[in-house]
Order: sequence, then C-alpha cells, then structure tokens
Amino acid sequence: MAFKIGLLGYGTVGTGTAKILLDPVGRNSLLQEIVIARVGVRSLDQPRSPELPAGVLTTDLEAIVTDPEIDLVVELLGGLEPARSLILKAIDHGKHIVTANKAVIARHGEEIFTAANQAGVYVLLEAAVGGGIPVIKPLKQSLGVNRIQTVIGIINGTTNYILTKMTEEGADFDEVLAQAQKLGYAEADPTADVDGYDAADKIAILAAIAFNGRIKREDISCEGIRQINATDISYADDLGFVIKLLAIAKANSDNDSLQVRVHPTLVPKDHPLANVNNVYNAILVEGEPLGQVMFFGPGAGQGATASAVVSDIVNIVGMMQTSQGSEKLDPMLRCSHEHFKQLSPMSEIDTRFYARFLCQDVSGVIGHLGTSFGNHNVSLESVVQIGFRHNLAEIVVVTHQVREGNFHQALTEIKGLESIDSIPSILRVL
Ligand code: HSE
Repeated sequence: MAFKIGLLGYGTVGTGTAKILLDPVGRNSLLQEIVIARVGVRSLDQPRSPELPAGVLTTDLEAIVTDPEIDLVVELLGGLEPARSLILKAIDHGKHIVTANKAVIARHGEEIFTAANQAGVYVLLEAAVGGGIPVIKPLKQSLGVNRIQTVIGIINGTTNYILTKMTEEGADFDEVLAQAQKLGYAEADPTADVDGYDAADKIAILAAIAFNGRIKREDISCEGIRQINATDISYADDLGFVIKLLAIAKANSDNDSLQVRVHPTLVPKDHPLANVNNVYNAILVEGEPLGQVMFFGPGAGQGATASAVVSDIVNIVGMMQTSQGSEKLDPMLRCSHEHFKQLSPMSEIDTRFYARFLCQDVSGVIGHLGTSFGNHNVSLESVVQIGFRHNLAEIVVVTHQVREGNFHQALTEIKGLESIDSIPSILRVL
C-alpha cells in the first residue's frame, strides 16, 4: 500500500527531497512505496522543478496537516511559526513528522515530543543537525550504549567558511562576510549563523540525545564570531592553533550536570577538528568505552540535507511495515527524555584561555600580569611579547585549564593595573 506524505515547503530542501523520491531506481526499495500526496507552498505562481502532478501543490498548509489520507508530514518551512503550530496540528491528527527545523526542535522540543509520544507518532530530525551527516540516529542507536563524555562540533557551515577564508586570506570578518554573502554562502541577514544561534540550536539537540535529557535552549551560553579579527588568527597560527566556532556539550564530573556552550575557540592544529574547513561540518563524540569517533561531511546543501530527510521518511515507512498495527513506538526512535538536564553557568566551567593585552612598555608589566593571574589561581602556560601596536607592547597569554570565574576575577584586577591599556581579545582554547 502506498505511504502518503505531505511536504510543507518546496524550497531548496523540499525540491531536493522530491528529486530523490521521484527518482527511486538504485536507492532503497521502500522509496517506491512513497507517494508525494500534497506539497504546501506560499504561492502557486512560480514554476516548480521537479514538476508535480496537478492538484498536489496547494497554498493551504492546514489542509495538509489535517488530511486523513496523509501518513507523514515533512516540515521544511524553517523558523518557529507557523512551523510549530503546523507540526503540533499534524501530530494531533496522528501524522508522523520529519523535520529539518533545528530552531523549532531546540526551542519547542518539549511540547512537540510530549504531544508525539501521546499521539503515538514519530518525530525524526536527522536533517536538523549536520545536513547530510548521519549523526542523530548513530548517536541514538549505534552509540547509545556508550557513556558519552563530550560532543564537540563544527556545526555551522557559514561561520566555518568565513573563518577558513579569514585564515587563508588574512582578511578581517566584515570583508569576508560581504564576500560570503555575494557568493550565496551567507544569508543577507547573517545573525543566526554568525552570532552562534544556529549552532546553539544544533548542540541543544545533540546534547539532549547524547546525554539523555532535555536541554533548555536559553541556558546555552552563545558567542559568535563577529569579534574575531585577522590579528588574533595570525597570533593563534604562530602559537599552533586555528580558530573555529565550536559547539561543545560536556558531562561534568558529577556525571549528572552538563556544560553546553558555543564560542570561537583556539583549536590545536593537530586536533581532528582543526582541518575541517570551508562549509564542511564535523562532530567529534567521545564516550566510554568507545573512545573518539568523528562524523564529517556536508553540513548543508540541497542534496545532502534531502538525503537526511528522505532517510528519516524511509525509516518510518520501514517501522510502519514491521510494527504490524502495534501502537507502541520503537524506543530506539522515539524521544524518551522526560527531565531537563542541569547546565553549569560559564563561571563554573574549566577551560584554557588566550588573552591579548596592550600594555605600557615599562619594566615589570609581565610580572604584574603574572601576579594578578596567580592571585586568582590562574596558571599560565605561555606569555609572549609579540611586538608593538601604536607604541604599546602587545602581550599574548595562554593559560592552563582554569575555572572561568577565576580567570574573569584576574582580568578585573588586571584592568585596574596602571600599565595595562586594554585587553582587545579574550578567547577560549580547546
Ligand atoms: N545556516 C546553516 C549553516 C545551514 O551555515 O550551517 C543550515 O543548518
């Protein structure tokens, strides 16, 4: 029997999804049982490719999510509304959901998954994180028996492209952003990408799965890349690092609470994430007993994202065929989280820091810096006087692992030193 799906949205990913579904030869045989019954779009005026049979396209999205003929709704609208309301209504009408929408899942996952579990339907979201990279299902299933310690990802292609170009060309942020916008790699409004919100949505989703608990999106500390400049990229390079926007989720030593954060980070050049460049994404997972495993691939793009969307659809079709009318959801695919995880405030995390100081070139400056750091238990790994900028000595410090709160207390003391002019950059080090 045909399995009928309704698509909400027929943009880049929607048309990519249709291309796979309408060209099933040589792919999973379950594709031949899937029929695109309805496709919801904003306007019927535009020509569409691939073309759909007459009557499939509609501007009435509500009619799709309530249509008794439709088994599964694929939500590819993006954004919070109307996506959230349409997903909830579709669930209410007994439809399974496949979505690529990280924002709606990261921010409204609790009500969506609660409704889905009550209605006995699946909500699958492989395409929401890492585009075409299979990471959600592997985390849930293949790695599910491991005790996960860390998930560290480069999960925003736009910022990875910008940082890669800044590194290669020695250029500053604004210049590369403008270039990226011209080439279509960055949105006209780049906020969600460059300020880290997109990566924060994605790490909220990964952390929930890896650490078995819900994550309050608003508790994730999030810093973007606007303040990164060619100077720090070049100094980082001299010190053996590249700068990447990392999304990090880590279990604390109590094995119960977590730290979840997004920020630009100096990554040692020999670290597996250091060579993930341009628009590529990668997610490094560390667990016990497995050790490290890294997922790498295209984090966005039509074909890649559609591949993840269609694999979710096929998963559900397969489940429906084997569940033989049982109303129970497969525990390996349903959302099983009930409690929110406790997230540590940033002041309580332990990390290394890179800081750049502009100082008067007088005797004893480095000693004063060292004393102030020492007063707050901040141990230094290296202190380098790089040169001069506007008659001021430029000093770069890299710390050992320190408590972030202690580091900031030391900085407050340092700001009060007469010989310190300013602290242009503070970045974390992996
Ligand atoms: N805007 C995202 C990125 C792609 O730059 O990675 C979709 O998640």
